[in-house]
Amino acid sequence: MAVELIAVEDLNEEQARAELARLSGEIAHHDALYHGKDKPEISDADYDALKRRNDAIEAQFPQLVRIDSPSQRVGAAPAGIFAQVTHARPMLSLDNTFSDEDVSDFVASVYRFLGVMPDNSIAFTAEPKIDGLSMSLRYENRKLVTAATRGDGTTGENVTVNILTIKEIPTELPADAPDVVEVRGEVYMAKSAFFALNAQMEAEGKPTYVNPRNTASGSLRQLDPKVTASRKLKFFAYAWGEISSMPADTQWGMVETFRTWGFPVNPLTRRLMSVDEIIAHYREIGLQRADLDYDIDGVVYKVDRLDLQGRLGFRSRSPRWATAHKFPAEQAFTTVEAIDIQVGRTGALTPVARLEPITVGGVVVTNATLHNADYIEGIGNGGERIRPEGHDIRVGDTVIVQRAGDVIPQVLDVVLEKRPATSVQYLFPTKCPVCGSHAVREKNEKTGKLDSVTRCTGGFVCRAQAVEHIKHFVSRNAFDIEGLGTKQVDFFFEAEDPSLSIRTAPDIFTLKKRQDGSLLTKLENIEGFGRVSVRKLFDAIDARREIALQRFIFALGIRHVGETTAKLLARSYGSYAAFAEAMQAAAPRHGDAWNELNSIDGIGEVVAASIVEFFKEPRNLQVVQRLLDEVTPLDAEVPVASNSPVAGKTVVFTGSLERFTRDEAKARAEGLGAKVAGSVSKKTDYVVAGPGAGSKLDKARELGVSVMTEDDWLELIGG
Ligand code: IVH
Repeated sequence: MAVELIAVEDLNEEQARAELARLSGEIAHHDALYHGKDKPEISDADYDALKRRNDAIEAQFPQLVRIDSPSQRVGAAPAGIFAQVTHARPMLSLDNTFSDEDVSDFVASVYRFLGVMPDNSIAFTAEPKIDGLSMSLRYENRKLVTAATRGDGTTGENVTVNILTIKEIPTELPADAPDVVEVRGEVYMAKSAFFALNAQMEAEGKPTYVNPRNTASGSLRQLDPKVTASRKLKFFAYAWGEISSMPADTQWGMVETFRTWGFPVNPLTRRLMSVDEIIAHYREIGLQRADLDYDIDGVVYKVDRLDLQGRLGFRSRSPRWATAHKFPAEQAFTTVEAIDIQVGRTGALTPVARLEPITVGGVVVTNATLHNADYIEGIGNGGERIRPEGHDIRVGDTVIVQRAGDVIPQVLDVVLEKRPATSVQYLFPTKCPVCGSHAVREKNEKTGKLDSVTRCTGGFVCRAQAVEHIKHFVSRNAFDIEGLGTKQVDFFFEAEDPSLSIRTAPDIFTLKKRQDGSLLTKLENIEGFGRVSVRKLFDAIDARREIALQRFIFALGIRHVGETTAKLLARSYGSYAAFAEAMQAAAPRHGDAWNELNSIDGIGEVVAASIVEFFKEPRNLQVVQRLLDEVTPLDAEVPVASNSPVAGKTVVFTGSLERFTRDEAKARAEGLGAKVAGSVSKKTDYVVAGPGAGSKLDKARELGVSVMTEDDWLELIGG
């Protein structure tokens, strides 16, 4: 529905009031779509236009500013997926300061407000400003009762079940803690955990995450707490909301108290007396920033004495007693010299912007990932426009680069005024730049939407996929062959001499026997290989002629089969022969073998399909056979407690369990040598059914599988 817009300066008061009401509703609607369901209906530019119109009308008619005006809202509106929690005390934000001068103004304003001579008598705490998500943890009678996100500052989301997965957040407070206390602080993801997660995503051929903050936020807003648990989130306590009695009378004392209650508090917090000390500390933290295992975006200064905080009070949205001294945005202008396409192991074509080298926050940046075709066009994962105006990115463009959250360089925006007149829109290749095979965007069978990733269809024909595959094969969690790093793999892959070349993984194991004595001489002359390193390399290769089954399966590089899945497969099938045979039997995607594969707890249909596809391809089978001529995958060690009555049995848990969590029940059963399956088949030995069991229970009865209660099961395994 198009709305006839009257120019702001022509509006009369009545029209302005109606317009503000309409804009408030409309903006709230788009906020909810954007933040809640990740499905915006309008472009960022159109959204900004709505906000600008709202602001312009408010500037003209300040008396009409609504309580629910978008200009008065702090942060994002709650999303509605989780239950809402009204904060007992609002969660406010901080004013920002950017320069040394701003800081001395802030300190001066505190003295002025309190009517004290500026004599360095007032202490301030300085705490790193953690770049995560603020969280309010409510304890009643020393038990954690609710964990809520900030939301719009007044109402947040109840994410208690997810917060319970963060081990370092205490669920109980010591006896000396007040009856009611809301401990507030920041949930964040460590950079190391973020990198590890992305490495895993990459190994599994999945899209990677952009930065730790967004990943932490996404992880916390998962409906499935198991996912949250796997993300290893962390927490720092630094503030409080409602509290029935005060355990300390300074900010410093409060944070110390939190520490004694078992909360992690930030070790870089200081208590300082003067502007000079504050600024010196800020510089020092700035220097340490890159080495910290968490992202920070500034330093927060707070008046230490709580009685003074009380007197200073609040402005509408932020306290007068605190300010956030932000680090300068790590952004810089540079030009895109080229857009290159990298082809990964699974054939994903990833565009990379080659930039004119530029220093961003002390680090030289020469590349920035452009993720995929849509991203270059200015379209996000949900089809929304990205970057402020949704501009596309072109070769020759001047762009703003940012090291997002300290980590990965990103192209923030394009400076359109500087776009060369001759520039043309980037055409994403439809052929693999390495092997020339068609590159396609697959359609997601479930959603019918196009995948964001463009993939080379060349498979083994594609040299890029082949070489990346070898790199994966020798990587740390696969065959872990020392001395075969990226550089060496490239060298052997490119080698023309048949006695030196490694084109597929089995070639690694024939390298030694292909030598006629000349390799040493040939290799020794190549930079980076000496006599000793050649011998070491052969030893390292020989050391892997026997290998754990799960590593072997992971090393095959089957799409969607990461380490976890490889482990599940190894444990379920026990030996390579049994695994391969079962996968071939499962090829028609129905029947017992297929059902058994799908019944493995943790393996879904997409993964199952990908595995059987791998075993359908004759070329794969041939490579695996050549590999098996050289190496022996060791049968998986299933931890069998020989005297356990359930060793070797397959059990399915269904319905709700009352004595254990599902995870704990599974771990116990596996510890006793049982296999835990996700669905019931003829191979199932026991079905443990709790209240609410449905179709699995019916299936068990139909197949005549033994059904028991949780108590029966406990009795069987010996309590
Ligand atoms: S104090 C009333 N202390 O920054 C003041 N906030 O821009 C409450 N933050 O919403 C906040 N580290 O998410 C405070 N040491 C710290 C902080 C911190 C990070 C975040 C917090 C807050 C935002 C304000």
